Amino acid sequence: MTVFSQARSLFFGSVFLTAGFASLPFAVLSLILKGRPFDIFSKSKISSANFTILWSIVGKPSAADEKLTNKTISQAYGVYLDLGPGTGFTVHHFDKSKTTKIFGIEPNKAFHPALQKAIDAAGLTDIYTIVGTGVEDSETLKTFGIEEGSIDTIVACKVLCSVPEPKATIEHLYKILAPGGQFLVLEHVKAKWGIGALAQALANKIWPFLMAGCNLCRPTEAYLYGAGEWEVKDLQHPEGVSGHEFITFTQGRLIKAK
Ligand SMILES: C[S@@+](CC[C@H](N)C(=O)[O-])C[C@H]1O[C@@H](n2cnc3c(N)ncnc32)[C@H](O)[C@@H]1O
Repeated sequence: MTVFSQARSLFFGSVFLTAGFASLPFAVLSLILKGRPFDIFSKSKISSANFTILWSIVGKPSAADEKLTNKTISQAYGVYLDLGPGTGFTVHHFDKSKTTKIFGIEPNKAFHPALQKAIDAAGLTDIYTIVGTGVEDSETLKTFGIEEGSIDTIVACKVLCSVPEPKATIEHLYKILAPGGQFLVLEHVKAKWGIGALAQALANKIWPFLMAGCNLCRPTEAYLYGAGEWEVKDLQHPEGVSGHEFITFTQGRLIKAK
């Protein structure tokens, strides 16, 4: 583990946390201005409004993020699910020449206008459909033809931290994948022992409230590996990441057994 990557992660994590608190008054104000004053008494609605403001500002990827995301998304092909595309910061990485159809599963409707703008700018308008629900909502997904064995590629970039009941949801996603289909992953996960892990456990007391349910301490690799039988199971920490950082990532590809 490098001291530099640990310190860097703690620094950026603290900036995120501070920004999360600072945006709370604006989240309350935004609900009032949208004519939904009673929503300020709902913890989940404040949480969602707070993350909507926060992600639009601090979610913008750095050059290093762009490189990592491109490595993941450029492998997508066929019919795919883009899980939690948010404001569309990542949609320009999709390679249209390898794509039949993309379903962007985004429950936060406040993100949809920016997402649609990003889809149009990326030239994906005719093949990208926004589905305004959570990925666990299998009934709504079915109305779009998203059923067991129907999807060639699932892309999960910084979203499995936020889905409810992650183990069951990932098992459901495994079923949706076609045999031989691929699950492309770039996710922040539970840290290995050390200061980063301790800071994660402490910050996680308030982090999910500030960040619309984002959980810092998820063993997402274990959920993915355990979801079913895989032909390829290749999740690694990106270069320069040891797994001990406060915000630590796993990246890679799983291929469902045929
Ligand atoms: C941290 S943002 C990442 C956005 C985008 N993937 C990116 O990398 O820029 C997490 C996204 O997951 C979405 N999300 C949360 N719960 C979800 C669920 N149950 N199903 C699908 N997406 C979800 C959030 O609304 C948000 O847009």
